[in-house]
Amino acid sequence: MADVVAGSPQISSGLEGVYITESSISKVDGTQGRLYYRGYSIDVLAKNSNFEEVVFLLLYGKLPTADELSEITKQLADARDLPDGVISIIKEQVGKADPMDILRTATSALSAYDSETADMSKEANMRKAIRIISKASSIVATTGRIMAGGSYVTPDKSIGHVANFMYMLNNKMPDKLQLDIMRDMFIIHAEHSSNASTFGTMVAGSTLADLYAAVTAGIAVLKGPLHGGADEAALKMMKQIGDPQNTEKYIESALAGKQKVMGFGHRVYKAYDPRARIIKEYLISLQADASPELRNYTEIALRAEKMMVDKLGQSHGIWPNVDFFAGPVYTAAGIPLEIFTPIFAASRTAGWCAHMIEYWQNNRLFRPLEKYTGQIDLQYVPLDKR
Ligand code: CMC
Repeated sequence: MADVVAGSPQISSGLEGVYITESSISKVDGTQGRLYYRGYSIDVLAKNSNFEEVVFLLLYGKLPTADELSEITKQLADARDLPDGVISIIKEQVGKADPMDILRTATSALSAYDSETADMSKEANMRKAIRIISKASSIVATTGRIMAGGSYVTPDKSIGHVANFMYMLNNKMPDKLQLDIMRDMFIIHAEHSSNASTFGTMVAGSTLADLYAAVTAGIAVLKGPLHGGADEAALKMMKQIGDPQNTEKYIESALAGKQKVMGFGHRVYKAYDPRARIIKEYLISLQADASPELRNYTEIALRAEKMMVDKLGQSHGIWPNVDFFAGPVYTAAGIPLEIFTPIFAASRTAGWCAHMIEYWQNNRLFRPLEKYTGQIDLQYVPLDKR
């Protein structure tokens, strides 16, 4: 029943503080600034794991044995190739549509090439999840490749998921630094409980629309700068600041103008986002061999962080989030800004699929209420009398 006090419904703006379901997939501890996937701290996973293992963990609820890991690695590798129709969509849309829109359209189109699209059994959904997780990365890599003037690179099944992503993006094998960076980014972005895009996925899926429909909804929701799009927005801000000496003046004037500084703040974390901490440490570790561009971004990022934390950290609970330091680190791996958010999405398909399959075990249609503030029983006036 809706929460009604003295006859008036209580509205939780933005659903703040509202629990929508139970889940054993991940825990965000916003007070301590901790994140766990299936009980494992994100710090431990970022240090020790790989994307395939994290996909297994999220989908199956436990770490894989060696055999299970090689099986899921093979399944993901076998699913990488894209249908010609999807490659055509990407080619047609590069230069016209935002890469997040291309990912959304191409992921939606994948449903036409999957004979199990309409099969809602758990087994079929687990198989579709693997295909979606695998192909979403291929779509993003192909988009980046075509944006750079290249053409579709046939995936290499003999290498890991992240290595293949970089291979399809650049038509060459990544070096160790690129691989290390992107492995971390894929792990860190894979899951984050009932955030807006996961909720969007679940709302679509709760109607018993299929997994492609649900994930397509998740991609649509992730796009905005208040959510996944903040990684691109944060790097654009750093570009706009240009000279590190301008940082404080820029932040001061943004705050004075009541503008949001992208890459800061979070609905749940009122402490430092543990993902931001990992990415920041990574960024600092890159400084010895950093290019002048990366050094510049790093100085701007660190100065902006200091100022924001001094002004709004303890006092307002506004700290850097996962998106703030991501841009400079992606830059170090040679990733173009336009595909930062699509990479976030490609990785997050793992969390979306895990949540959807979990929710379907005890599905109930999402159908919240709104308090109507308009009029009723108005007199209809014919068009020629208005
Ligand atoms: N810069 C300056 N002020 C901020 C910021 C920010 N980044 N974030 C929140 N505030 C202020 C906001 O202006 C408001 O102030 P006041 O009460 O004086 O009006 C107060 O904090 C509460 O803000 P809110 O937007 O109502 O809070 P929320 O819980 O709805 O916001 C948020 C969460 C992520 C939308 C918000 O912090 C924000 O817009 N941040 C910038 C965009 C961003 O970095 N998004 C990525 C989120 S993490 C990755 C992901 O999940 O996708």
